[in-house]
Amino acid sequence: MAKSSAYTAKAPQPDGRIVYTEEENLVWRDLYARQEANVRRWSAPEYNVGFDRLALPADRVPQCTDVSRTLTALTGWKVEPVPALIGFSKFFGMLANRTFPAASFIRSRKDFDYIKEPDIFHEIFGHTPLLTDERFARFSEMIGKAGERLEARDYSWLIRLYWFTIEFGLTHANGGYKALGSGLASSPTELPYSVESPDAQRRAFDVIDILRTPYRIDIHQPVYFVLDKVDDLFKAAERDLAADIRTAQSRGLFAPLYPVKEDA
Ligand SMILES: [Fe+2]
Repeated sequence: MAKSSAYTAKAPQPDGRIVYTEEENLVWRDLYARQEANVRRWSAPEYNVGFDRLALPADRVPQCTDVSRTLTALTGWKVEPVPALIGFSKFFGMLANRTFPAASFIRSRKDFDYIKEPDIFHEIFGHTPLLTDERFARFSEMIGKAGERLEARDYSWLIRLYWFTIEFGLTHANGGYKALGSGLASSPTELPYSVESPDAQRRAFDVIDILRTPYRIDIHQPVYFVLDKVDDLFKAAERDLAADIRTAQSRGLFAPLYPVKEDA
């Protein structure tokens, strides 16, 4: 996660709704229009089923209250606006309570193609479709609960499991690779890259290997982990992840596959 943001959170009104300007709604409209065909083509069936269930507005920034109403009826999750950046402890605590923390601002035109930190397009368009599916809803909750039981020094180990699945995971579907991750669903360039580029490594899903794999948040990922079938992810949520972290720590991190700058 980024340590600083150029953006300021937009605070909800007393009724929970956030006022977006005309220009902000137009940015959403244009991001949505560009990315809809891409997720139909490259994202996993599970993502697209959720995307259809949500029926997000195409022409304006969705309200967290409206998305929450749909999610709560399906899986008991809700989306809560938060400041642009929150710590891991708060993040895990919210997931454990089936509450998805959403950065409420939307990127400006100058960051239209790429933004390092999550904005509401990433949070809603990227994340909420999978949260309509009880299996991903449960997995996300279990990550939160596992995080709550860890010491702060171990947070960065557990977050890799979230990063390489919910954010940037791939799966096999329809005879090829498909994107599961929200960071892929909200990125016009990394979505096709993750599925098709010969430059990316694609490794079989393995919890210990994932925990040992460092990443950078500000580049296309050099390595993705591929679920053979989506149900393999849900088995991972039943593991003793604290024990897995100790195993991973005893074996050590893999050497980074990118120029070293930062580890999130
Ligand atoms: Fe995210």
